[in-house]
Parts: sequence; structure tokens; C-alpha cells
Amino acid sequence: MNERKTAQLQDALPKLVDVLENYVSSSQKKETPVLKQHAPEHILGALHTDQILENGFQSPEDITDFVSTYLAHTNHLHHPRYMGHQVAVPHSLSGIPDWIHGTANNPSSLYEMGPVGGALEAYMINWMLEKLGWFRGQSYADFTQYPENGSGILTHGGSVANLTALSAARAAIAPEAWTDGNPTDLVIIGPSSSHYSIGRAISIMGMGKNAYVAAAVDNNEVIQISDLQRVYKEQKEQGKRIMAVVANACATSTGLYDPLDEIADFCQENKLWFHVDGAHGAVALLSDREKQKMKGAEKADSLIWDAHKMMRVPALCTAVLFKNQFHQYNNFKQKGSYVFHSTEVIGMDSMPYTVECTKSALGTKLFWTFALGGEKNMTLYIEKCYQLAEDFYHLLNQQKDFEVPYFPQSNILCFRFTGGPASDDFQLKLRYTLIDTGNFYITSCEMNNKRYLRVVLIHPDTAVEDLKALLNNIRDVAQNLIQD
Ligand SMILES: Cc1ncc(COP(=O)(O)O)c(C=O)c1O
Repeated sequence: MNERKTAQLQDALPKLVDVLENYVSSSQKKETPVLKQHAPEHILGALHTDQILENGFQSPEDITDFVSTYLAHTNHLHHPRYMGHQVAVPHSLSGIPDWIHGTANNPSSLYEMGPVGGALEAYMINWMLEKLGWFRGQSYADFTQYPENGSGILTHGGSVANLTALSAARAAIAPEAWTDGNPTDLVIIGPSSSHYSIGRAISIMGMGKNAYVAAAVDNNEVIQISDLQRVYKEQKEQGKRIMAVVANACATSTGLYDPLDEIADFCQENKLWFHVDGAHGAVALLSDREKQKMKGAEKADSLIWDAHKMMRVPALCTAVLFKNQFHQYNNFKQKGSYVFHSTEVIGMDSMPYTVECTKSALGTKLFWTFALGGEKNMTLYIEKCYQLAEDFYHLLNQQKDFEVPYFPQSNILCFRFTGGPASDDFQLKLRYTLIDTGNFYITSCEMNNKRYLRVVLIHPDTAVEDLKALLNNIRDVAQNLIQD
């Protein structure tokens, strides 16, 4: 593209700021549907993709039209009645680091290539390590390798993070696996309700999914310690070596925490690697009111923590943290001669310790979320979301035509409409019809072989009034479905 045309297209920038601001504020004011779904062909037609692919944008208006149309077709996470998946509702200015990165394009895995992103990543990792009691430095900018320090890296999402942590667990028990392949006697124990990325990681590592031995969970899908002990004994008797014990903090569908403290003691007694999947719920560490739910995590060997769920960071940004820094350093014993030098410097280059080679400026995004509100506001936000789920529980309990199976421990809650047909299928129909109205966006899940509606109360402005309206909307939708 010639310089003149680029300069002309840049005239779109101030208008784009308005378009984005309007998008956020009209969503926040509930002036748009949460989601109005269309077929992909409709979306691509509305975007005029064929013309743009061939000729590119011709004028600043082409850009603003494209972005306006794009935004109109999005799922509006800034709408307070967005209560769907565990995906952050960012601040209105959260996109700035992606803009900086998209302009500078400094991948942060090699310090020379992304010094600022790399420095911010190491700084924020120290902040996270301190939350777990795994940091001994004088300040977050202290990168001295104190032997008692934990370590960590940022990675693109919880699934890659779980893979990274489990790979480190394997390197600790069977370092030869990296070159020789897996020994056949390794198993991983955890609740049957663990996130599917755990099973996937085990398969990707070539261990076969059956290497995950599930311990029984209770009616609310929380691991039963007695069964963990039973499975452990059974596996030992079969001559298996336990590579890791995995726990949910919290579980994806229910938002309930496994009893980390008890599991940690069990692992310490039996010298087992303890991995905490804190993708969603590790944020409880920030709150004096909520942090007892994470008690025991400080005794874990590894923990993952998604910032793009409950820390308002746009996807993706996840931390993998290790209590013993050497577990991170020994994870990927692989040399790529063009980047890994013979005297590997432990420090800012995260490339030797990540699945990814090139990675985005993740530390910048994570730091930015605090730059916009500070730690105190982050804590208040988390407490508010967790409290709202408790309020919703009480509200549901007062209704004759709803049931709620457990008291929430996070901002996730499952519930069921009981004023209609008892089938699981009816709950699913309720959800689809409800989100089709554009008034709300919620999810559904199976728990204990039963289908539930599910909310993730992740928007900072969602209020009890919205939840009352949700129940009334579900009733209306149910009425229509029953009459049809
Ligand atoms: C407990 C848990 N672990 C891991 C993940 C995967 O995280 P990501 O979507 O960032 O890959 C999720 C996602 O919902 C989760 O809830």
C-alpha cells in the first residue's frame, strides 16, 4: 500500500475511537441486544468481505463502516446481562495494550525482541508468586534468583498452561521421557470434574487419556478425599507411579473449589506432585474475604491462573507458576540452536520454558489491567462478583419454580427451572430461546448427569435487579414454549 493511501486511512482513527466508545457505552446502557446471532454468510456479506479482500479499504469511511458492522454482530460482553462464559469483561480502555503490541509487534518470549513486554511479564509474575507466598525478592522488580523463589511464565491460555504444568510434573518424575518417550507406569489422579484441557494435555503428551484416573466426586462434583486415597492405594498396588494429583480451584461448571488444603497435605505425606487448576478461581487469593478457598494452594507444586477470566484482561493471558523454580527450568529440555544459547540465561527469556516460541506481549496486558484500576479495585470487583452469586442463590431459594443445588463459592452458579417439563431437554430449550431474545446471555451445563442453566456473574455492573429480570424472562420464555 502506498504511503499516501495509508495516511488517508489514518483519518479513520479519531472516528474509530468514537465507534468503540459508543459500542461500550450502548452495551453498558443495555441499548443493544446482548447477542443477536446470524449465520456466518450473513455476517460476511454485511462486512463486504469479497470487495475488501480484493481491493482493501478505499477510504476512512470503509474502515469505520467495517468496524461498526463488526461490532454490531458481536456478543456484547459489556452488556450487564452478559452472564455467559468465563471470559473477562474488559475495561473500556483494555484494548490499548493490544493496539500497542499490534503496532510495535514485540513478541515477549525473547528479551531482545520484546524488552518491555518481557520486563512487565517478569514483574507481574513476581506479583503473582507473592500472592502464593512463593516470592522472596525485595520488590516485584527484583529478579535475583533466590533459591527459595518460585518461578513462572505467562502463556496463551489455561489449556496451554495445564499442558506446561503437567509436562513439568512428568519431567520431575521421569526426566528421560523427553528423549525416550513415556514410561508406561505413570498415572495422574484428580476429580472426574477436571477441565477437559487436563485430559487433552495428557493425550497430547502421548500418555493416553486413560493415564488420568478419576477419583469420585460428590453430588456437586467436588472431589471426595476418601476416594482420592482409595484410588491412590489401588494405583500403587497395581505398580503405578503417581505423576501428579490435580485439583479444581474452582470447577468450570459449578464454580466450587476442591478441598485444596486436605489434598495438599495428602500429596505432601505421599510425596506427590500437586497441581492446582486455578484458571478461574485463583483470583480469590486477592481477597481477605475469599482467600480461605485457596488455602493449601501455597503447598502445591504448580498452579495455573487465567487473567482473561476474572482479572478483566482481554483473551488470552495465563500464568503457570511453580513453587520450585527448577521444575520450570527442567521442563522442556530441548535445544533450538538459533535461540537457546549454550549458557542459558535464566531470567527474562521465557522462550525456553514455554510451549510457544513466539508469544504476544502478555505481561503488558496483565499490567495494564491494574494500571486502569489498581489492585484495590480489582479486589473489590472480585468480591462483588462472588457476593452477587450468593445474592442470586438466596433469590433463587425464594422462588417456587426454580431449584438451586448448592451454595456458591465463586461467581458461577447452576440452577434449574422447575415450573415446566422435568426433562433436561427443556432446560436446553429454555437457554436457546432465552438467548435468542437478545435480552440475556447465559450458559448451561451438566452436573451429576442432570442439565442445569448456568450463570457466570462476571460483569462489574450486573445487579440483583438484572437477576430478577432474568428469572422473569425465563418464566416468559417457558410459558411460550409450554403453549407451543
Ligand atoms: C478450570 C479450568 N481450567 C482450564 C480452562 C481452560 O482455559 P482456557 O480457556 O484459557 O484455555 C478453563 C476454561 O474455562 C477452566 O475453567
